[in-house]
Amino acid sequence: MGGGFLAGRRRSSRADYPLMKHNKNPEDFLSSPGLFGAPASMGSMSALHRKYTFPPFSVLNSRDGDWQRRKKAWIRLGIRSEVGRDAKRERDSAHGPTVAVWHREHKVSSRGDEYTTKLKKRTAGYVQGYSIFDPVLCELMYNWFCPAGGQIIDPFAGGSVRGIVAGMLGYRYWGCDLRREQVVANREQRSAICPEAPIVWMCGDSYRRIRKAPIADFFFTCPPYGDLEVYSDDPAELSAMSHPDFIEQYRATIRRSVRRLRPNRFAGIVVGDFRNKKTGELRGFVGETVDAFRDAGLSFYNDMVLTTSIITLVIRINKQFDVGRKIGKSHQNVLLFVKGDPREATKAILEGLK
Ligand SMILES: C[S@@+](CC[C@H](N)C(=O)[O-])C[C@H]1O[C@@H](n2cnc3c(N)ncnc32)[C@H](O)[C@@H]1O
Repeated sequence: MGGGFLAGRRRSSRADYPLMKHNKNPEDFLSSPGLFGAPASMGSMSALHRKYTFPPFSVLNSRDGDWQRRKKAWIRLGIRSEVGRDAKRERDSAHGPTVAVWHREHKVSSRGDEYTTKLKKRTAGYVQGYSIFDPVLCELMYNWFCPAGGQIIDPFAGGSVRGIVAGMLGYRYWGCDLRREQVVANREQRSAICPEAPIVWMCGDSYRRIRKAPIADFFFTCPPYGDLEVYSDDPAELSAMSHPDFIEQYRATIRRSVRRLRPNRFAGIVVGDFRNKKTGELRGFVGETVDAFRDAGLSFYNDMVLTTSIITLVIRINKQFDVGRKIGKSHQNVLLFVKGDPREATKAILEGLK
């Protein structure tokens, strides 16, 4: 495994992470007075931070300074998840419009250099106009829900983040993506960062490829959000399908994927709702995802919200709210399912793989 950075086993406490040196002590930021002047409950919160890295609450606040510092530390490793994405297709990403799009649409440079510089500073984590999958979210999901050293499968791999984070934390990772250029770029990232880590990226339609995936201890993915961002014009490309075809193929891929999961294991997926581009109506994609997993035999077990950046939203909101009362989307949904018994699944995490 490459380097000593988080290599080997899953860490038991936050203090064990080398990334910690980039972070503030939770005691410091929690010692400020809470709402209405009441002191925040420092002791118990910092204990949660030490034990779980971030408290396992249903709202995961990626805007938190500590979270952002940790994210930057991951990115400094050399993760360049945006490589492999087609610049011509750059539009709204699944995580909100990219900074580059926003710059173009709002001619931000005409607002003055100072503003642009400030904005640039605040957009760390967006590289070349693309948002990347959050490595901290990834780290938490693996460490909370996958047995140490376990096998992770990911049918919609996209960029390198989920693979590299898995490898660096001592997990095995199998990811699949339809786009060859993405898979090639991901493999190059692996060679540069952690050449010996057991990370595999396959190229092809995951509906077909998943049958050959290893038996897994955790499923974690982030699918296309319908046609919100069209990734390629391959006939198997989910994001290029009509909505009914997309849902059918998405459900089928989930059904096949979770067959590769061992009994008594968890499955996580990051999704966000999106609108019918003609009518503006929400598609109800989060509910569709819950149905897909339930129909595949899993139980819906945890429902989390990841708060996302509001940088571009602050500007766009006037237009979208004033014209059509569309609320600014500043979160993603992180859904967690269990195959079998959640207590047995937890036991496997606490006791590790035998
Ligand atoms: C939401 S994106 C993943 C973005 C990801 N969050 C990242 O870090 O880049 C979904 C990915 O699914 C891929 N995809 C779409 N249809 C697919 C299919 N049938 N089989 C495998 N991958 C597919 C797309 O190429 C895209 O990279």
